[in-house]
Amino acid sequence: MEVMQIDSKNLKNKVRDEFKRRFKKEPMMVHAPGRINLIGDHTDYNLGFVLPAAIDRGITLALANNGSDCCSLVSLDMGEEISVNLNEELRPINTGWANYILGVMQGLRSRGLELIGFDAVFGGDIPIGSGLSSSAALECAAVLGISRLMGNEISNRDMIHIAQKAEHDFAGVKCGIMDQFASVMGKSNQAIRLDCKSLQYEYLPIELEDCSFVLLDTKVSHSLGDSEYNKRRAECMEGIAIINRKYPQAESLREVSMEMLDNSKSEMSDKIFQRCLFVLEENSRVIRAGNYLKSGLSKEFGQLMFSSHEGLSRLYDVSCQELDLLVEEAKKLDPIYGARMMGGGFGGCTLNLIARRGKEDSISQLRSSFIKAFGREPGIYEINIEDGARII
Ligand code: GLA
Repeated sequence: MEVMQIDSKNLKNKVRDEFKRRFKKEPMMVHAPGRINLIGDHTDYNLGFVLPAAIDRGITLALANNGSDCCSLVSLDMGEEISVNLNEELRPINTGWANYILGVMQGLRSRGLELIGFDAVFGGDIPIGSGLSSSAALECAAVLGISRLMGNEISNRDMIHIAQKAEHDFAGVKCGIMDQFASVMGKSNQAIRLDCKSLQYEYLPIELEDCSFVLLDTKVSHSLGDSEYNKRRAECMEGIAIINRKYPQAESLREVSMEMLDNSKSEMSDKIFQRCLFVLEENSRVIRAGNYLKSGLSKEFGQLMFSSHEGLSRLYDVSCQELDLLVEEAKKLDPIYGARMMGGGFGGCTLNLIARRGKEDSISQLRSSFIKAFGREPGIYEINIEDGARII
């Protein structure tokens, strides 16, 4: 059974060596992590609660000034390079990965920072489309690296907002704030309980008794940009608009109680009702899960993960058969306390909370069931919780 191991030192050397080979100078090195989300999906853009953590996989970026008014941007993994003329307006282009960096450059510019020419090379060890936020990691590495290179210290808050806006404006995904927040603010061995309305947060040590988190990757690659994600967001907005007829003071689903939703039920379609119901229930699960995490109650925490998945699959309709199968099989295995799809959905990974004693067996059973059903290998990743974006 192949459990992918991470060699972050190797990634740093690989990116730096490639930079030096191409540009013949010593670069500044930045790393920004991907994230898992323990619980609380599709709640962030509804201004609710999430519980993410930064992981030991991410994007490493090498960059240095070049004294010109052009930039060369290189993706090591895609084997592609683009050139940007800083005298021209920055706009989204057809090269997907470049848009995350261009969006960040535009964000810095619109905050009054003057961009001067630089070269950049990046690489990563987050499987793309696995729901671990490789795009947020790239945006956050870019915003930290480029702002520092231009001699500007911007606040974490600003970095997070610039990165999120890059995703909105240059990648066309109207994401919430969770991924960028986790990538910038992550802390080793801690989850972040974040209130997406006030942006108040609290670090919660991940100390679930004798358990660890393991990811099973369906390798069904989702494309959030393919509009289903934005559609869910629009459906929630439709829900709140209907609720506002009776309760004009509610700005988001965050301010809606079960009673308010029930009172508006007759005015909305079943679909819109289900979307809203899921968000209300998921918010309440995040609050409870945070408390279980504080008390180290693994089984109770795990149960909430299972119900989160159920809601994401049945009410919010963002799962797929591969994710559902992995969660159904996990339910049958005693040492697995909880499992759920994670992130935007339509593919990617399940997050599994597994008791250490039966870990190996459980993973190999999940793997066999997956191979039996779909005739191919799932990815299996053990992860550690790490610090957020930093100069390395
Ligand atoms: C994606 C988005 C996040 C969040 C999750 C779902 O990862 O980028 O903002 O909405 O989906 O929880």
